[in-house]
Amino acid sequence: MTPAGLLDVLGLRSGYRQGTVLHGVYLSLKPGRILGLLGRNGVGKTTLVMTVMGLVRPTGGMVRLDGDDLTGRRPDEIARAGIALVPQGRRIWPTLTVAEHLELAARHARGTGRSADDMYQLLPRLAERRRQLAGQLSGGEQQMLAIARALVTRPRVVLLDEPSEGLAPLLVDQIGAMIKAMAAGGVAVLLVEQDLHLAFGVADEIAVMAKGAIVHRSDTPAFRRDPATARRLLGIQA
Ligand SMILES: Nc1ncnc2c1ncn2[C@@H]1O[C@H](COP(=O)(O)OP(=O)(O)O)[C@@H](O)[C@H]1O
Ligand SMILES: [Mg+2]
Repeated sequence: MTPAGLLDVLGLRSGYRQGTVLHGVYLSLKPGRILGLLGRNGVGKTTLVMTVMGLVRPTGGMVRLDGDDLTGRRPDEIARAGIALVPQGRRIWPTLTVAEHLELAARHARGTGRSADDMYQLLPRLAERRRQLAGQLSGGEQQMLAIARALVTRPRVVLLDEPSEGLAPLLVDQIGAMIKAMAAGGVAVLLVEQDLHLAFGVADEIAVMAKGAIVHRSDTPAFRRDPATARRLLGIQA
């Protein structure tokens, strides 16, 4: 199989002591494009992004960035190669300030990275709160910080794991605008989502995962025109 994208995931396998979760995942992300990844709870979406990032050890298959084999590398090496993860549940450090988060993240930057000041220009809300402890931010502000922490590394690929989780609709729209802006800047984006409104609003293409494999892929308008497939694969009304 010839790699087609900036990030190519080729037959990726991984799991935990309890057993294999990913049974050979194939994905390809292109610069400036957003792929929405949907799937019921527990199918392996988080395990996929964690394995790409090197946080779960791959047991088979390959992760390639621009043709370079990153399979089995350490998470910090993968970050420096240009992949950033916005993890599910945000995973911010409550007792560090906003500024400290961005300074720490910049250490894993590709090349010189972007400065915290660039992020404050992009996100004035974070600038106002730069000296506050992240644990005191609202859920939406924490999600913005988690995204800023990824962007400060100047990534070529961003993996977002359910960024809308627990956020009010207005904030979800703001997160959507940030994701679109990333892609407009040339980043290849994987958006794992349960919120179909957000996924449909920003993704160019939709992939669906079931039982540790990709079982469907189509462009977003085609997926929206086919509610029977959405119902069958996701068990919901799309
Ligand atoms: N740290 C872990 N240790 C053991 N099993 C896990 C761990 N994380 C997830 N799993 C299991 O792996 C499967 C896939 O989980 P996950 O990747 O979180 O799915 P999703 O993100 O699609 O909801 C589930 O059966 C889950 O219980
Ligand atoms: Mg998950």
